[in-house]
Amino acid sequence: MKTFKIPRLGVNIDHVATLRQARGGREPDPVWAAAASELGGADGITIHLREDRRHIQDRDLRLLRETVRTRLNLEMSAEPAIVAIAIATRPDQVTLVPERRAELTTEGGLDVVGQRARVAEAVARLRDAGLEVSLFIDPDPRQVEASKALGAVAVELHTGRYADAPHGPEQARELEALATAGGTAVGCGLALHAGHGLNYTNVGPVATIAGMAELNIGHSIIARAVFSGLERAVREMKSCIIVARNAASG
Ligand code: PXP
Repeated sequence: MKTFKIPRLGVNIDHVATLRQARGGREPDPVWAAAASELGGADGITIHLREDRRHIQDRDLRLLRETVRTRLNLEMSAEPAIVAIAIATRPDQVTLVPERRAELTTEGGLDVVGQRARVAEAVARLRDAGLEVSLFIDPDPRQVEASKALGAVAVELHTGRYADAPHGPEQARELEALATAGGTAVGCGLALHAGHGLNYTNVGPVATIAGMAELNIGHSIIARAVFSGLERAVREMKSCIIVARNAASG
C-alpha cells in the first residue's frame, strides 16, 4: 500500500473581506473567519493584500498575524511597497501572484520566465528577510524551473483551467498538465501547492497528484458557508481531500 501525506488546506478568506467592504463597515470580520476556519480544521489561512486594497486591509494583516494559530500565507504582487509590508509583518509564507487592476480574481499565473528580473528582485528581498516564498504559476515545467532558479521554496500551480474545463478529455488534459508540472516541481525539490477554482467536486484528483502538499481554496468554501456556516464548510472540504487521498492510497 502506497502512503500519501494529506495536503494542507489553506482557506482563503478574501471573500469575507469583500463582503465587509461592500458596506465599508466592520462586518463580517476576516479575523473571525480565520478563527472559524481553524476550528473547522484549516491548516492555514490565506489572504491577498492587493495594491488597491479591494478586500483585505492592512489592519486585517496585522491582526491575523497576531491571531492565526496555524500558518498565515500572504498572497501579494512583487511591488516593492507590498514586499516591504510583508517583511515587516512576517507571514509564515508569501505567495507572489500577478495583479491587474481590472481583474475579477487572479487571472493566470505569474510569468516568472518573462518577468524574471522583477520577480527575482522580490524573491531575493523576501528570502534575505528569512521568509518562505512560493510562486503562483501556470502548470508549465518552464515556469517551474525558472521558479526554482530564482530561489522559491514552493510553487502553487494555477488550477483555473482545470476547474473551468468541461468534464471529459479536456479536463483530463488539464489534470495531466498539473501532474506533469507537479512532477517537475517535486523532482527539483520544490514544495508543491495548487489552487484557484477548486470546489467540493473537483478537488479530489488535484489532492491526489503525487507530492501535493497544500491546496488554497476560497470561493467554494465561503459560498457553502453562507448556507452551512464556515466551520462546517471547512470541515467538509477537509473531508473531501482526506477521502480522495485515502482512496488513492488504498
Ligand atoms: N490561490 C491563489 C494564488 C489565488 O489568487 C486564489 C484566488 O484569490 C486562490 C488560490 C483561491 O481561489 P478560489 O477563490 O477560486 O478558491
